[in-house]
Amino acid sequence: MSRLNLTRLRKMKVEQNKIVMLTAYDASFSHLLEQAGVDIILVGDSLGMVIQGQESTLPVTVDDMVYHTRNVIRGSETVFVIADMPFMSYSNNEQAITNAARLMAEGGAQMVKLEGGAIVADTVKQLTERGIPVCAHLGLLPQSVHRLGGYRVQGRDTDTAQELIDDAKELQLAGADMLVLECVPADLAKRVTSAVDIPVIGIGAGSDCDGQVLVLYDMLGLTIGKRPRFSHDFLADTGAIPAAVTKYVQDVKSGQFPTQEQQY
Ligand code: KIV
Repeated sequence: MSRLNLTRLRKMKVEQNKIVMLTAYDASFSHLLEQAGVDIILVGDSLGMVIQGQESTLPVTVDDMVYHTRNVIRGSETVFVIADMPFMSYSNNEQAITNAARLMAEGGAQMVKLEGGAIVADTVKQLTERGIPVCAHLGLLPQSVHRLGGYRVQGRDTDTAQELIDDAKELQLAGADMLVLECVPADLAKRVTSAVDIPVIGIGAGSDCDGQVLVLYDMLGLTIGKRPRFSHDFLADTGAIPAAVTKYVQDVKSGQFPTQEQQY
């Protein structure tokens, strides 16, 4: 059985068929998410916080990502799998190529994700020219949390909003095949989504993106501390994990998630 691919994901954008993404870090959840109809599993470096109990994503290593990606691949057959490139694993092009190749060849990922705007455009170009599909990540960049001064909504003023749109276009031009947009006002996310041809997956970015992603543990009500406003406890609604994931899939596909209260 073959996995979902970029051709079909691009077609989903054109046909306005919402793309459902969730994070997962192991084989059991990978299997469960696939059975529930999730299109894409992101092996996020959020595992540093939700699995390892770290304060941020910064301590996560390439070895950690390879290990968890391999487990997610073993648990699934048809879902598209993206692996995050951890903090400072792509600070120069040579290092980026070596580490992305490990995530693909050893981990089995179909795409890698990295954070940043124009500054990473050349890295995206180098990776994609070598056949490594890249998902860009704009808006709130968790790997830059100390520079940003906390987990805050990004792109609220005219200049930063325009910069974000320009970054999205430049990353597409450099070869990015997907974009994750985190914590930006819904109207800005809508502008970005129509400014590029690649699928845009939002988290805290409103309902007009081409798809949605959440951190699995947040949508199962397992957040340590305060759950982000843009997330929702689907387990509390349904009482069972498979039903919670199925409801998330249905609510994203039907446009019922996110609601006005879950966006900025
Ligand atoms: O690491 C992660 O889980 C992510 C999501 C927040 C998009 O990058």
